[in-house]
Amino acid sequence: MAADTANKVLEVEDINVYYGAIHAIKDVSFEVHEGEIVALIGANGAGKSTTLKTLSGLLRSSTGSIEFMGEDIMHVPADKLVERGLAHVPEGRRVFAQMSVEENLEMGAYTRPNSEIAPGLERVYAHFPRLKERRRQVAGTLSGGEQQMLAMGRALMSAPKLLMLDEPSMGLAPILIEQIFQIVKDLHAAGTTILLVEQNAQMALSIASRAYVMETGHVTLSGTGDELLHNDDVRRAYLGG
Ligand SMILES: Nc1ncnc2c1ncn2[C@@H]1O[C@H](COP(=O)(O)OP(=O)(O)OP(=O)(O)O)[C@@H](O)[C@H]1O
Ligand SMILES: [Mg+2]
Repeated sequence: MAADTANKVLEVEDINVYYGAIHAIKDVSFEVHEGEIVALIGANGAGKSTTLKTLSGLLRSSTGSIEFMGEDIMHVPADKLVERGLAHVPEGRRVFAQMSVEENLEMGAYTRPNSEIAPGLERVYAHFPRLKERRRQVAGTLSGGEQQMLAMGRALMSAPKLLMLDEPSMGLAPILIEQIFQIVKDLHAAGTTILLVEQNAQMALSIASRAYVMETGHVTLSGTGDELLHNDDVRRAYLGG
């Protein structure tokens, strides 16, 4: 492995994804290094969720390449990708509504040996004390913020090498958005590499190591979180001036 690829967790090159005649992702390239929080920001319909779905094997690119931990994953089935350490918390925080919080978390460890369930639960509960308090509660009765925490906690149970979060702050009150972003920062500080999709550009850029801006299927800009926070085009388009 060449020195400059040694710490690349993800390398995406020139992918294109279609929904029938709709060309949703156009020649998209980006990379994520170990220990980074990389943000993908952009308006509604820019192609952010499509990008994550393609990385996690739910959609396929007709071109280019996707490497995860140095291996080509273009044709690897989605469940095998979870096993390899690629975790995706989709938009809309789907939880198993009829199951308890703890049962949901245990489901997240289905790719792991049984002996890792108890330590996994401890780790998740350390990041999300609220989930510990509510571990016997049926997931469908959790608040929106708690369901987001559960969806993130469930993904963490797979011991991911890359955690992909699709709009974790969507639809939450400002105080909960602060909490969710704090947890993302804590997970990062504890060693998790994160690919974060967000419409809340201000918050995302303020915690991102690096970020990419997507517009109508293209990556149009990239830089450190700080550079993009102070970029005039980004300020006008995504940060209200
Ligand atoms: N299942 C689908 N069938 C057809 N078109 C789709 C489908 N899913 C997404 N698209 C289209 O692909 C484009 C990219 O959608 P995508 O969901 O990736 O955007 P996004 O950046 O995640 O937007 P948002 O911020 O609103 O979640 C949009 O034009 C969308 O209408
Ligand atoms: Mg989306």
